[in-house]
This record gives sequence, structure tokens and C-alpha cells, in this order.
Amino acid sequence: MSGGLIYRHVWCYRLVMSVLYRGRYRARFDAVSALLRERDRSVLELCFGDCAFARKCRGSGRGWVGLDLCEHFVERACALGFDARQADLARFTDLPRCDVCVMMGSLYHFHACLPELFSCVKAASARFLISEPVRNWAHGNRLQRYLSRKGTRAGEKEVPFRFDAASLVAALEILSRRIGFDYRVVSVARDMVVEVVWSK
Ligand SMILES: C[S@@+](CC[C@H](N)C(=O)[O-])C[C@H]1O[C@@H](n2cnc3c(N)ncnc32)[C@H](O)[C@@H]1O
Repeated sequence: MSGGLIYRHVWCYRLVMSVLYRGRYRARFDAVSALLRERDRSVLELCFGDCAFARKCRGSGRGWVGLDLCEHFVERACALGFDARQADLARFTDLPRCDVCVMMGSLYHFHACLPELFSCVKAASARFLISEPVRNWAHGNRLQRYLSRKGTRAGEKEVPFRFDAASLVAALEILSRRIGFDYRVVSVARDMVVEVVWSK
């Protein structure tokens, strides 16, 4: 699979993220970590990237399974002793069961297939925690839009779409009725943090 530049090397990915988040890239993981409950013993992370959250789970004694399309990220995670598996989540395979499913900085990759993605996550988990950027370079000038499009291609196609706060809430409203869940916006800054709890 040929991916965008930032997915080819972990150091490159971290550098870009640190610039985008002005050095506060890791604070995103703290925000989601704070939402884990004592009874959340098994965590499934979708699109895990560089294992920052996996390390947090390991540190707190939780089981962690990670799925990502990027071969390089998966190989690196396995080399670090994590249970990481390569999967194209746009193809809707059955997900491993877990207490809580987490996705950070990646929902925009699935904006064309959100109902299918949420249905899969509902079948596998009790809760879904999402942290999604809502202030983006992709909403900036032409150069910023070009770089963000080229840099973040994970598969064959570029993904120009990004959420802002209004479009993310609008998508959640529609999905909550269609799939059956309640959601709570936990915080909004550069990223919006959302907790999804499935209803019957
Ligand atoms: C912007 S990175 C976010 C990584 C990490 N969650 C973080 O917050 O730093 C997006 C991630 O989504 C993964 N990804 C993109 N499309 C995917 C797909 N169809 N299936 C699985 N993973 C995908 C990429 O490989 C990459 O690791």
C-alpha cells in the first residue's frame, strides 16, 4: 500500500503532529485516557498510528488491540510487543470484541461510510470514544489544503474531507437516530472529544 508522506515514518508523523498541535500532540491521548473507566479492561483502538495510546493502556494494565491500514505502523507496534493487526476499516470486517473502542484523529477517513463503521463498532463494544480534529489545515489556504490532502493519504485515494464542529455534530445527530446511540460532546478545542453509548 502506498501512503502519504506522514504515514511512511513514525518520526515524520510525530513531527508533523507536533507542529499541527503546537507541541501538545500528546494531550489528546490524555483527554481520551481520562474517559476510561476502571471496568474498561479491554481497549480496541482503530487507526492507532504511533502507539501513544497503546502505551497508556499498557501502563494502566489494560488489554489493547489496535487495527490500522498502515503496514509500517502495524509492524512497528508488533515489534514493540503490542497486539496490532493490519485491517482496512473501510471494508467493514468484524471487529474484535472489547469493553471500549477508541478512534482518534481518523474519523474523517470514513466520512463516506460512517453508518457502516458505527454499526461495526456497535457490534463489538459497549462504548465508543472519539477524538476528532475540528480545526484543520484542510480548512486553511490553498497550500495548507494541498499539504494536508497529500500528506494524509492512507490508501490509494486522497481524502480532502475534514470535519468542523458543526459538520461533526450534524453527522452524529443523523447517525445516532439511524444506528441507535446517545452521545455526549465532552470537550471542543482543536479536537472534539465525544463519548458514544449504544442504545438497544
Ligand atoms: C491522522 S492518523 C491518526 C493516528 C492516531 N490515531 C493519532 O491520533 O495520532 C490516521 C490513521 O488512520 C489510519 N487509516 C486511514 N485509513 C484507514 C483505513 N481505511 N483502515 C484502517 N486505518 C486507516 C492511518 O494509517 C493512520 O494511522
